[in-house]
Amino acid sequence: MSYNFDQIIERKQTHSTKWLKFDDPEVIPMWVADMDFSCPPEILRPLHERIEQGVFGYTDKPSHLVNILKDRLNTNGWDIDPEWVTWIPGAVVGLNVSCRAFLNPGDMVMTPSPIYRPFTFASSNMERGMVKTLMKDVNGRMELDFESIEALMSADINMFFFCNPHNPGGTVFSREEIQRLVDICEKYEVGICSDEIHCDLLLDDKLKHIHTATVSEYARENSVTLLGPCKTFNLAGLPIAAAVVPNPDLRAHFRRCMRGIVSHISSLSFVATEAAYLQGGEWHKELIEYLRINKELLIEGISKVERLSLSGPEASYLAWIDCREAKLLSPAEFFIQQAKVGVHDGEWFGNKDYVRLNFGCPRSVLEESISRIQKAFSQRN
Ligand SMILES: Cc1ncc(COP(=O)(O)O)c(C=O)c1O
Repeated sequence: MSYNFDQIIERKQTHSTKWLKFDDPEVIPMWVADMDFSCPPEILRPLHERIEQGVFGYTDKPSHLVNILKDRLNTNGWDIDPEWVTWIPGAVVGLNVSCRAFLNPGDMVMTPSPIYRPFTFASSNMERGMVKTLMKDVNGRMELDFESIEALMSADINMFFFCNPHNPGGTVFSREEIQRLVDICEKYEVGICSDEIHCDLLLDDKLKHIHTATVSEYARENSVTLLGPCKTFNLAGLPIAAAVVPNPDLRAHFRRCMRGIVSHISSLSFVATEAAYLQGGEWHKELIEYLRINKELLIEGISKVERLSLSGPEASYLAWIDCREAKLLSPAEFFIQQAKVGVHDGEWFGNKDYVRLNFGCPRSVLEESISRIQKAFSQRN
């Protein structure tokens, strides 16, 4: 390995959201989707150079950036037109704007549950209604329940919120699954906002990320896709995402819905994105290898804890640990207070009987967390 993912980096003094969450200094924070790894020099160098220049005025989007994204998506089977792309300061912005763009007041969005909570905030922020479709845990893989989706469809529902790869479940949906979902959306004339922010973090060689917009003409003409470098290269502090909208009318409306509300993008975010996409390939490859080993370690560690269960994720560094058998009032509280492992409470995503654990951290930290979890559960009476 040429990059050092084992390095422990002190983050509290940088006001890290992740590291300031727990008052108890003994708790290891393993919650929000933010990894404890440094950016590679390939990203740091151009950032330093940009800072050296010293002027941080309003900045236009670099026109070549969209071609870099185009080339990147092309290698994954999606031939986009640069016109389709709107840069936005983060994927969550895109979730909220999509709610405005697809839905009129009184309309509803259908959202799978569990889900990354800002999906549910978006509809309430925009004063649109929400219908939840519960996902099924099929031997640890979180899957869409197509019967439920179809049964819940109604004339009021005008958008489906899709998260692929799924957060918190880590599912990489197959072409067949996506096609089936899109077919239902077509039947009921429902638009799709597809959050694909974790799409560069597949941990299984046998799987392939399928962009929702590529499965049919309907999907292309009725979707907003959100993606970007922030999860993959750990750049959440330099917010940026791309909203890819092939349909010109929908795209124009999406842009109208942003006006006066959505802030401009930091000049450093553009620099980091370009460097990540052009120069970050080797670091990305090594990151995936590191995460794969962390995932296997965690699965093995959890398998030794009676009444906990884990088999994924297929993508990303977020493990959705099934604690249903443990019969705890609050599994998250047990992890945090007894094991001193600062997981993200499953309740935040819609199911309190799970916890989400971020294993995007140095291996020694993960090993310590696993041994704390094993010890705390073995001492439980
Ligand atoms: C599915 C999903 N969408 C969006 C985000 C946040 O994206 P951003 O920070 O670009 O708004 C996250 C962060 O964890 C996420 O998991």
